[in-house]
Amino acid sequence: MTEGTVFRLHRLDAALGAEILDLDLSRPLDDDTFAAVRRAFLENNGLLVFRAQSITPEQHIEFSRRFGPLMIHVLRQYLLPGHPETLRVSNVIENGEPIGLGDAGAIWHSDLSYTPEPSLGSLLHALELPAEGGDTSFANLYAAYDALPAVIKQRIEGKRAMHSYNHSYERFSGSKWRPPLTENQKNEVREVIHPVVRIHPETGRKALFVNEGFTSRILDLPDAESRELLEVLFTHSTKACFVYRHRWQDHDLVFWDNRCTIHLAHGCPEQFRRHLHRTTVKGDAPY
Ligand code: OGA
Ligand code: MN
Repeated sequence: MTEGTVFRLHRLDAALGAEILDLDLSRPLDDDTFAAVRRAFLENNGLLVFRAQSITPEQHIEFSRRFGPLMIHVLRQYLLPGHPETLRVSNVIENGEPIGLGDAGAIWHSDLSYTPEPSLGSLLHALELPAEGGDTSFANLYAAYDALPAVIKQRIEGKRAMHSYNHSYERFSGSKWRPPLTENQKNEVREVIHPVVRIHPETGRKALFVNEGFTSRILDLPDAESRELLEVLFTHSTKACFVYRHRWQDHDLVFWDNRCTIHLAHGCPEQFRRHLHRTTVKGDAPY
């Protein structure tokens, strides 16, 4: 419990994360409480689980905006009508059409790492959960970086990597949620280059910043060596000792830091509905 504030905090029994209880996000937080939430976010390696949030899309957006400007996802067909800041992460089909991105996050990734100023964090709110499955895992990439063998730290020192939305999208080309990108969409998600290790702008700590979802190659290495090194980093960063697996409860709002964590959707059997709303806060260019 943080002194002087009105919520309770429980650290999760895992490499990252804390649960926040007795905090109602449907009302604007006073500045002290908001500062305590931000501190808790940074101190718990960038993962907070706010339990039991009955909030409207407007309240979800309002709370998210206090962390920074919101990003609009390139798959416009999956934005909540009237609220382009909200992406529907949903397997629900209406009138034969998917209303949300039903296969979001099926590979370990950091949201929007393929943009020049990637996301600070995402806030995912559960509206309808399946009776089975649908968990989401999170990995702590500060801890993953710290635990790298010295020889690997040397190999990635000062290295930069390419991040590409298209690279990942094409792997799902048969998916009913992923029609071919238009030329406009492709132009919006041009490849970008980021450091392989970044300094978190708020904590000053080093974190790995590569992910299987969007990182296509390490620059200034022969192709085969880039592939081999990325494979080592991907396997290392998702070891069980760095991971928390979230079992969703009704009306959870989960807030993760895309600068020092990656996440993975485990998916659920097709016959169950799973419907969530995501907002995505913009961050800074990594350094
Ligand atoms: C996301 C995402 C995972 C999930 O919304 O960014 O990756 O389990 N979701 O829904
Ligand atoms: Mn995601």
